[in-house]
Amino acid sequence: MAPLLCPSLLASDFARLADEAARVSSADMLHVDVMDNHFVPNLTLGLPIVESLLKATTIPLDCHLMIEDPDRWAPAYAEAGAASVTFHVEAARAPIRLARELRAQGARAGIGLRPATPVEPYADMFPEIDMLLLMTVEPGFGGQKFLDVVLPKITIARELIRKSGAQVWLQVDGGVSVETIERCASAGADVFVAGSAVFAAADPDAMVGQLREMATKAGSVH
Ligand code: DX5
Ligand code: ZN
Repeated sequence: MAPLLCPSLLASDFARLADEAARVSSADMLHVDVMDNHFVPNLTLGLPIVESLLKATTIPLDCHLMIEDPDRWAPAYAEAGAASVTFHVEAARAPIRLARELRAQGARAGIGLRPATPVEPYADMFPEIDMLLLMTVEPGFGGQKFLDVVLPKITIARELIRKSGAQVWLQVDGGVSVETIERCASAGADVFVAGSAVFAAADPDAMVGQLREMATKAGSVH
């Protein structure tokens, strides 16, 4: 599959979210980081702002929920119209039930794994999900250094997805930039979140294009 680029609005100006979305008009999805100050030590935004964003942009929203009790809170994001809703397996009580609920609301269902969470125990769930998010930094903040230790897990996940036969996108999030995207793509990732790399660039949309091109080349070798 052609790589998908998802700029993370976490690195943008929260007072001007609609304008920031317009600066990355070639994005495949806009990545929206929802943090509750419990699952991660940071607080960002929630459903009301996602509802406003949905009205302010035509780019599909990729909501990444770094929150406790996603079983309770995640379905509302799907119901509101987010194209993709990812919750963390470390926080979910009934991940299969939750993934089914998200799909029933019309969203793609994603599961997220912290850097130290192994992927193997979740392989049986692949037919129930549309995306697997592997964090390549500890979740909570933008602008952190990419964790190379996650690369073998990307390779393992790609192989497990292939074996399962399920159509699961493999997303990486954290420290993705011109320095690191090729390593991720050649390990098997096909959906890329980039926050600071995109929004700190002089031309964010050109950076989206550059990252997509690098991922396409590195991924085709794989
Ligand atoms: C971190 C978030 C990321 C963050 C990535 O917990 O999940 O989406 O925005 O930011 P960068 O690309 O700057 O590492
Ligand atoms: Zn994220």
